[in-house]
Amino acid sequence: MDLIEGMLARRTTNGPFRPDPVSREHQHLLMRVAQAAPSHFNSQPWRFVLIENPATIQEIARISGESMTELIDAGIFFERYRRYFRFTEREMDERRDGIHIDHLPGPLKPFTKQVFSDAGIKLMRQLGVPRKLGEDNRRLVAGSPLLLAVLLDRTEYVPEQLSGFYSVFGMGAAMENIWNAVGALNMGIQFISTPMEIPRQWQAIQTLLRVPDDLALMAVYRLGYLPDGEKRPTIDWSSRHRKRLEQFVSRDTCDVPERDA
Ligand SMILES: Cc1cc2nc3c(=O)[nH]c(=O)nc-3n(C[C@H](O)[C@H](O)[C@H](O)COP(=O)(O)O)c2cc1C
Repeated sequence: MDLIEGMLARRTTNGPFRPDPVSREHQHLLMRVAQAAPSHFNSQPWRFVLIENPATIQEIARISGESMTELIDAGIFFERYRRYFRFTEREMDERRDGIHIDHLPGPLKPFTKQVFSDAGIKLMRQLGVPRKLGEDNRRLVAGSPLLLAVLLDRTEYVPEQLSGFYSVFGMGAAMENIWNAVGALNMGIQFISTPMEIPRQWQAIQTLLRVPDDLALMAVYRLGYLPDGEKRPTIDWSSRHRKRLEQFVSRDTCDVPERDA
């Protein structure tokens, strides 16, 4: 039951972590649960880099914050991802997917619905929001005691072959094990995704981590122990809703929705 309750409670951490280091024992435990995941022919195509070096963390934080500012300022982020944003509890209740932007800076609140429109982005620029969000993001990453890079072995990860799909599938299973174990250790985890959106920034992280040609850098996360009280970031969301059974499960064929009991 503990396992199932833990899985159902799994979540992404948007806020800061405690500054204390993640024990070596916990780091290695996370690596062990990762490698307990299934992989095609037990190929274990995943590789990990545990990053504790403060200079490396600061540099990744700088790259991440800078990327965030650039993405928001150019309107790229909202253009790419607008369809996932929900602005009211009602909208969230109906669709039951996406992320609900339920925490905005005071001056933006009256414009909630327009925030991600072209006019809203202009307003955000005028209010200095891109820089503020970038700085928030930099601080969140810089204040994380542990970063984790996930890589795939390129002899397995060949995107145009089935083994490429299998590798990504297995990596997802490994990351999910980590994500669940993190919850059991009173830790949190979050993607550091903004650098992935900008090829030169992603390249900068690969150079920093000295990723060799035979590995592909797939994702970077920040991890740490959770503080007691959580202060929410400037723009924050909640995404605890999940679809009803009939919205994502069918019976026997694809066209017979499964009803909740
Ligand atoms: C492939 C993938 C990419 C994601 N990218 C981000 C991200 O860039 N930043 C972030 O904070 N969360 C990211 N997430 C986490 C999702 O936003 C989150 O899982 C979803 O909103 C559900 O919330 P929950 O994890 O708290 O249940 C990502 C998750 C997945 C699986």
